[in-house]
Amino acid sequence: MNITIIGGGAWGTTLAQVLADNNNQVLIRDINLDFVQRINRNHVHPSFDVSIPSSIKATTDLVEALDFAQVIVLCVPTKVIRSVLNQINTSTKEPKIFINVSKGIEPETGDLVSDIINETIAKDKLKAYVVLSGPSHAEELIFRKFTTLVSASLDLEAATMVQNLFANDYLRVYTSQDVRGVETGGAIKNAIAIVSGIASGLGLGENARAALICRGMREIVKIILSMGGTKETAYGLSGLGDLIVTASSYNSRNFVAGLKIGQGQTADEAINTSTQTVEGIRTIMAAHQIGLKYHLELPIIEASYLLVTGKITLKESQNLLLSRKLKEE
Ligand SMILES: NC(=O)c1ccc[n+]([C@@H]2O[C@H](COP(=O)([O-])OP(=O)(O)OC[C@H]3O[C@@H](n4cnc5c(N)ncnc54)[C@H](O)[C@@H]3O)[C@@H](O)[C@H]2O)c1
Repeated sequence: MNITIIGGGAWGTTLAQVLADNNNQVLIRDINLDFVQRINRNHVHPSFDVSIPSSIKATTDLVEALDFAQVIVLCVPTKVIRSVLNQINTSTKEPKIFINVSKGIEPETGDLVSDIINETIAKDKLKAYVVLSGPSHAEELIFRKFTTLVSASLDLEAATMVQNLFANDYLRVYTSQDVRGVETGGAIKNAIAIVSGIASGLGLGENARAALICRGMREIVKIILSMGGTKETAYGLSGLGDLIVTASSYNSRNFVAGLKIGQGQTADEAINTSTQTVEGIRTIMAAHQIGLKYHLELPIIEASYLLVTGKITLKESQNLLLSRKLKEE
């Protein structure tokens, strides 16, 4: 099958290799000409300098990319996803199956990518929408290390199609129909990964990190339920699973961004010194808005929101959490 990937960074090019391994023809569209040339001429992953199958091609041309396939994988940072989808809607001639693998929530609107798709893509150009998410570092999957993902769609047939498209002997894919739960879990865990990184940057130990991850999970569950997802999803691969892989790993740019904040950098400095997409800071903003909208008690999200927006200091954020009234677990 022909498949187009929009965004050929760390994750997009890694998924291109999975799809090429499964005998699909893959065309990547990226705005970075250097990335495109490295894929086409050198057959290397642009972020990791690892060899990739020579059958994978890349282009900067959006129309060429859209004409190539009926299946479109979205893998750009979520801050550009609305504008990218508007361009796709204008440039595409026929209906597409959209597979979203980006992990974020639009802070200004609280919209998930599925909401943005419905707002930007005309109904007659949208064949199906599937989100593919779960505990997955590109740094491992590129070496074909065992990984699991969830393929979620309201259209079970589409979820199963995507399951079969990606699954192979190193990637196991489950299906789900809880689109909102899977999208929310994949996004919100990045906020808690930032917090976990901040704790490490502050020099706190593993006791504190475990406490933040565990109490952070409580907040993730509340947010997933408010956004229309289920508890099963929250404790599944795209919730707890993704939290485990992200919240204490130096392969996680969100954890590392938190680490830098804990060591004294501002949120902007931490983002700008990362060469790859850091979704978690925007997700903290989005989680704060969701908390306000649904009247949720989210002390860890709230302390991190006040910290990354410069309203309180590191010391004050710690005091805010530690001075809370003692309570039952
Ligand atoms: N890296 C991972 O391990 C991983 C795993 C799962 C999900 N994700 C998610 O995938 C998304 C992308 O992450 P990444 O790690 O690949 O980031 P990245 O920064 O490595 O790559 C993003 C790519 O998007 C490209 N891009 C930006 N604007 C574009 C546009 N308008 N059109 C086409 N391409 C454009 C950039 O040039 C870049 O190559 C994020 O939402 C992230 O949370 C990443």
